[in-house]
Amino acid sequence: MRLNTISGRFAALTTMFVILAELFILLPSLAGFRLDYLESRLERAQIASLALLATDESIALDLESELLQTAGVFNVVLRRNDVRQLVLSSPIPGPIAATYDLRSEGVLHTIDDSLVALADRQNRVIRVIGAPVNQAGQLIEVTMETAPLRQAMIDYGLRLLAVSAAFSILTAVLLFTAAQRMILVPIRRVITHMSAYASAPEDSRHIIIPDARLAELREAETALQSMQQTVTSSLKQKERMALLGQAIAKISHDLRNILTTAQIFADRLEDSADPKVRRAAPKLVNSITRAVNLCETTLAFGKAEEPAPTLSRFNLAQLAAEVIEAETLAGEAAGQVEFLTDIPPSLVIRADRDQLYRVLANLARNARQAIEATGAPGIVEIGAGEAEADWWIKVCDSGPGLPDKAREYLFKPFTGSTRRGGTGLGLTIAADLVRGHGGRLDLLRSDVEGSQFCIHIPRGMADLSARADAAAR
Ligand SMILES: Nc1ncnc2c1ncn2[C@@H]1O[C@H](COP(=O)(O)OP(=O)(O)OP(=O)(O)O)[C@@H](O)[C@H]1O
Ligand SMILES: [Mg+2]
Repeated sequence: MRLNTISGRFAALTTMFVILAELFILLPSLAGFRLDYLESRLERAQIASLALLATDESIALDLESELLQTAGVFNVVLRRNDVRQLVLSSPIPGPIAATYDLRSEGVLHTIDDSLVALADRQNRVIRVIGAPVNQAGQLIEVTMETAPLRQAMIDYGLRLLAVSAAFSILTAVLLFTAAQRMILVPIRRVITHMSAYASAPEDSRHIIIPDARLAELREAETALQSMQQTVTSSLKQKERMALLGQAIAKISHDLRNILTTAQIFADRLEDSADPKVRRAAPKLVNSITRAVNLCETTLAFGKAEEPAPTLSRFNLAQLAAEVIEAETLAGEAAGQVEFLTDIPPSLVIRADRDQLYRVLANLARNARQAIEATGAPGIVEIGAGEAEADWWIKVCDSGPGLPDKAREYLFKPFTGSTRRGGTGLGLTIAADLVRGHGGRLDLLRSDVEGSQFCIHIPRGMADLSARADAAAR
């Protein structure tokens, strides 16, 4: 039984409290015992002296000392009819150390006297005064030794302590057993339930059914039950969502393959002899391309997590030039959107190059598409720089700003798109990728004069991985 368990502490505390209670009982008991002892000495002395008073003749010395020995005193004085009479006497071995008048001793005084009697190891002579029994006189007074009294008190105290110890052990065992049954067994039951539940939280059979009789424990069980119900139901829902996600991924995958085939056939329609078919062909190809893109982005998003970034050092201006080149080619009307950069040519950053390309491509494409949608010319600028803690890359445009819906569902998948054919995943994926670097993507500004997104990539993360690289080498 260890002290850091409830049972161990319970048993130790019970024993301690019972012993403490017994000590409080011990002191008055010892005082009572001392009083009884002294009174019995007075009584015995009185009987011995009465035997003597019955005869008028003086008694032999032998008989007198025998009477005194039986009474356990040195001499006896009786006061009757206002006459003080030394009835029995024998030589006293020393001076009288103290006088105790039992007729006037208070409770506290008695306890005090008994403690003094116990503490004093020397055998002294004391005088004890009391009232004779049966009103056989006004006063009786004896002289006696303290050693036998002290010894009797010690014997009595030890007996009392032995009984107390047995009593404490019995009480501790009883209390311990009661606590085991009433508290520990129900607590262990809850713990067993919790472990069983933790091993299979989606199995509702493991949810606890409150049945403790103790009100507090029952309250805890009820709270646990409702928590387990919530966890189990959200786990089930998550499971269903995962299954649904898998189904969507499969459908997107197969649909993309079917559409790719359709795309090839649609391409051939452009060579058709029928001019009507030839005119419709590009629209058909565009629609199919959009559908293929939708399938592809859904599939990409379905991969619940992007892989952790693989960091490398590269020139940012070069990366931005590649993004701009691709976007210029993709532009609907040549020259409508002008791409500019404001990046120090020597700026080298440490990040996942492919992932950062995708982030910049998404932001630049959004900006281009927003400007193209206005039909007016516009500018997209990628700027960058380094601060003490991070690198920042800004993508600004002179477009119309984000529509309300896009701003409301900013960075939320599938919900913020206002563009025809848009899936509403571009910004979500970009933000996820930046977050994977320990950084963040913010929308700094968005109004009729244009929008401004800013990427922050912490340099600390690069330092950390550089250190890890060095350690691995
Ligand atoms: N620079 C911008 N200027 C104006 N509106 C923007 C800009 N960037 C994003 N938006 C708005 O935010 C919406 C969400 O953008 P997001 O890139 O997430 O999805 P999307 O472009 O519609 O589709 P896709 O998943 O193909 O990128 C867009 O539909 C557009 O309305
Ligand atoms: Mg987009």
